[in-house]
Amino acid sequence: MNVINGKKIAQNLQASIKLKVDTLDRKPGLAVILVGDDDASEVYIRNKEDACKEVGFYLEIINRFDNISQEELLFEIERLNHDDKIDGILVQLPLPKHLDVNLVIETISPKKDVDGFHSENIGKLMQNKPFLHPCTPKGVMLMLESIEIDLVGKNCVVVGASNIVGRPMACELLNAKATVTICNSKTKNLSCKLIQADIVVVAVGIPKMIQSDWIKPGAIVIDVGINRLDNGCLVGDVDFESVRKVAGWIAPVPGGVGPMTIATLLKNTLTAYEARI
Ligand code: GUN
Repeated sequence: MNVINGKKIAQNLQASIKLKVDTLDRKPGLAVILVGDDDASEVYIRNKEDACKEVGFYLEIINRFDNISQEELLFEIERLNHDDKIDGILVQLPLPKHLDVNLVIETISPKKDVDGFHSENIGKLMQNKPFLHPCTPKGVMLMLESIEIDLVGKNCVVVGASNIVGRPMACELLNAKATVTICNSKTKNLSCKLIQADIVVVAVGIPKMIQSDWIKPGAIVIDVGINRLDNGCLVGDVDFESVRKVAGWIAPVPGGVGPMTIATLLKNTLTAYEARI
């Protein structure tokens, strides 16, 4: 079993972004909007802040109370759409329930949509003509690239069908000419699907759900889950200790996909910058 060190791959990617930024006249600019004071979101934003500092991006963090109106939030996004210092806009999810998340995402200019969630960017990904990719799935693709796996014709099973991870993940793998099965919480006989998979990507949010007897010996297992247990431990959706004995490659939690998501966000911001100049 080999561990895919997402932290290391992300550091290398960030170092190459920094080299590029050092040659630019203007710093690429990222705006992050946080509504309310969700603990997990605050941690994610702190990580993004550190990464932006490291590569030399201009960063604006916009913190709003959780009673902000839909109108005020859309107004803020429109302001950023027209702000020349800003190349990328990210609205941290989840949002409070009174806000329409789809309307918020669709209000972000597709040219500055560094999350890759706008329907225009998702449509381009579906057509295999991507511009800005959803960060986590693209981060997983970069991890697979780093271990030099030929994805053509490989059996891939994606567990989880969210708009943020599962669906775009399946699309990325399909674009790489893999054979893709998308499973969800209602899938019957999930273990029968998983045991045939050369590559498994799991994003369901259920701690240690994937056990070793569901995994084909030698398979590549990428765990996107981040679950905080009652004892404070951070674990993924894969039972790492048992699955590591069967898998050929495994991405751990923490230190796997998480840092890759942030590195891809920086890469998207640079791509958006380059498209604007
Ligand atoms: N919350 C959890 N993951 C994400 C993400 O990738 N983007 C945004 N905007 N919010 C998130």
